[in-house]
Amino acid sequence: MTAAPLRVGVIGVGVMGTDHAERLAHRVAGATLVAVADPDVGRAEAVAAQLGSVHAYVDPLDLVADDAVDAVVVASPGAFHEEQVVACIEAGTYALCEKPLTVDAAAALRVVRAERAAGRRLVQVGFMRRFDPEYAALARLLDSGELGRPLLVHHVHRNKNVADWFTSEMVVRDSLAHEVDACRWLFGEEVVEITVYTPAGRTAEGIVDPQVAVLRMAGGGIATCEVFVRSGVGYEVRCEVSAERGNATVGLGGGVLVRAASRWGGAVPDDFRERFAAAYDAEVRAWVDACRRGEVVGPTTWDGYAATAVCEAGVASLHSGSPVPVRLEDG
Ligand SMILES: NC(=O)c1ccc[n+]([C@@H]2O[C@H](COP(=O)([O-])OP(=O)(O)OC[C@H]3O[C@@H](n4cnc5c(N)ncnc54)[C@H](O)[C@@H]3O)[C@@H](O)[C@H]2O)c1
Repeated sequence: MTAAPLRVGVIGVGVMGTDHAERLAHRVAGATLVAVADPDVGRAEAVAAQLGSVHAYVDPLDLVADDAVDAVVVASPGAFHEEQVVACIEAGTYALCEKPLTVDAAAALRVVRAERAAGRRLVQVGFMRRFDPEYAALARLLDSGELGRPLLVHHVHRNKNVADWFTSEMVVRDSLAHEVDACRWLFGEEVVEITVYTPAGRTAEGIVDPQVAVLRMAGGGIATCEVFVRSGVGYEVRCEVSAERGNATVGLGGGVLVRAASRWGGAVPDDFRERFAAAYDAEVRAWVDACRRGEVVGPTTWDGYAATAVCEAGVASLHSGSPVPVRLEDG
């Protein structure tokens, strides 16, 4: 571990990038936020001014080329991830890339190959559920073998609401991507087939919502994933695993449960930044610590490619209503 703090730049300072920039500036020991980049120059300058002596770039590739930047968080929209992550790889700079790694499988495979050509891991993909304390405990329980082999995984992923521009395809590519990665991680297997179902007549302002994806895993296991982006309730993520000798659930709410006046229950967070705050903190801390040791941990570019390939097949299934096989290219 080097004694010097890791000097980090953040590309794309919208909702997620600003959250990461604040985390790096205030809550991650061993890291210093030195730069942000956003083509929306007003936004970049506002975030930089708010967070101390931080340089504001308009062009993300100028941030990557800055010698004063040791490592980069890529939090731009997914369509720009390939160019920006490959620029980091070619510069030998560590990158934490928000999910999805890319929006299409061919681009994700190019990132996998660029990293292989560099000869070492440089990229962690931002599937932060792997760092959520409850999900991590669930994975350890499954790894211990106490419950036997997992047979079924049931996921629920609900937002209160999403912006008007959020499309049916984005429900698969941006939201379901989290469940796809969690299923690959918990089963320890690839997805071989995906079918996306939609309840008849259930469309909200053009968005096919909710959607239910059924994943078939290579070892025969099955996962069901409800994604409901306009549930009107709040941000809810739950996961239940049925295994050979028992079952386990996470996401029921570890907070205060109230029993009062014919009411039982607790609060539902409005947004993912509250529900997964501990996971984002742990994810970024693990990334910073690993970079300072000269390593990369957590989800790989292959994990990012596999999730994107499954979601690409999921979009095809969304349109056809039929099961779509998933075939991963040899990286
Ligand atoms: N891990 C999670 O739970 C989670 C949650 C939300 C979003 N995300 C991911 O984070 C990324 C950003 O999402 P968001 O919700 O913050 O979006 P956003 O729209 O709020 O912010 C995107 C920002 O990127 C900027 N931008 C646009 N084009 C750019 C370019 N070419 N280069 C650099 N910046 C550019 C925009 O000006 C904007 O400031 C996406 O990949 C998204 O899927 C992850």
